[in-house]
Amino acid sequence: MENAEFPPRPPLFDFEGVSMSHYFTDNWENVQNFQARPDDILIATYPKAGTTWISYILDLLYFGQSDPERETSLRIYERVPFLESDFRVMPPGTELADKLTTSPRLIKTHLPVQLVPKSFWEQNCRVVYVGRNAKDNLVSFFHFDRMTMAEPEPGDWNHFFQRFMDGKMVFGPWYDHVTNWWEKKQTHSKIHYMLYEDMIEDFGQELDKLCSFLGLSPSVEEKARVMEGTQFDNMKNNSMTNYSNLPGMDFKVSPFMRKGKVGDWKDHFTVAQSEKFDEHYQKMMKNPDLQFRTVV
Ligand code: A3P
Repeated sequence: MENAEFPPRPPLFDFEGVSMSHYFTDNWENVQNFQARPDDILIATYPKAGTTWISYILDLLYFGQSDPERETSLRIYERVPFLESDFRVMPPGTELADKLTTSPRLIKTHLPVQLVPKSFWEQNCRVVYVGRNAKDNLVSFFHFDRMTMAEPEPGDWNHFFQRFMDGKMVFGPWYDHVTNWWEKKQTHSKIHYMLYEDMIEDFGQELDKLCSFLGLSPSVEEKARVMEGTQFDNMKNNSMTNYSNLPGMDFKVSPFMRKGKVGDWKDHFTVAQSEKFDEHYQKMMKNPDLQFRTVV
């Protein structure tokens, strides 16, 4: 669909100390009161960290064998509701999640940890978090904001670069998001924290660790199917996972499945920007246990 059919880009505003757009706060009462179930799996990420990738991995692990028809009949955003979203072009995420009859329910969120509905903690749900290095995350976010009308106006690269460092992004600063979710692991043992770079470097190993966290023992064939199906090119060419035909997205500006690489930041950052970014990064990232790689 053309962008013209979508409402104008939303402004950013402060919501409980976090920059947000109305698409993620309009349904807030239902989000806050959302009733999680003990076997729900919450997929948590900062936007553009590999949410769709991990969503499809989990979907194939749980349903690839038992419900192959699902793979060709439901798009990934229908299988894995986006909890806090209320885009109007589809029902709000809470409603989609409430309607799911599958078990477990796979539910996606970009919320900073302090805004996650309390029932997920009360029900002791499993959480799979994926973090991605800040430089590639920034680049991916920039191209995404260029192509979707659901995001605030990105401005040019230099402007967006500064905004990211200032944390004026929907869902708040990357630095706080990855750190606070990391630190939540200290009190909630059922968080599996994955890194996009590790997944790129050794997918098989990361899949094994994920399965062990979930208590799953897929067969060699099942694992092979997950690996095959979730390869970047396969997801890019799969209309069920590539977000094609979603209103408000213009693939001519940039595809949703763009590059799927580690290190694309090198084609965007000037040397001076990289130095400035690194210096700022050192100041923002205080937890020595949380380390991201910008090359693999
Ligand atoms: P790029 O823009 O760097 O290509 P999200 O799903 O959180 O919006 O993240 C989107 C990013 O994840 C995009 O990054 C996209 O290309 C990448 N991605 C999606 N599926 C992938 C896969 N199977 N392998 C590697 N990267 C993937």
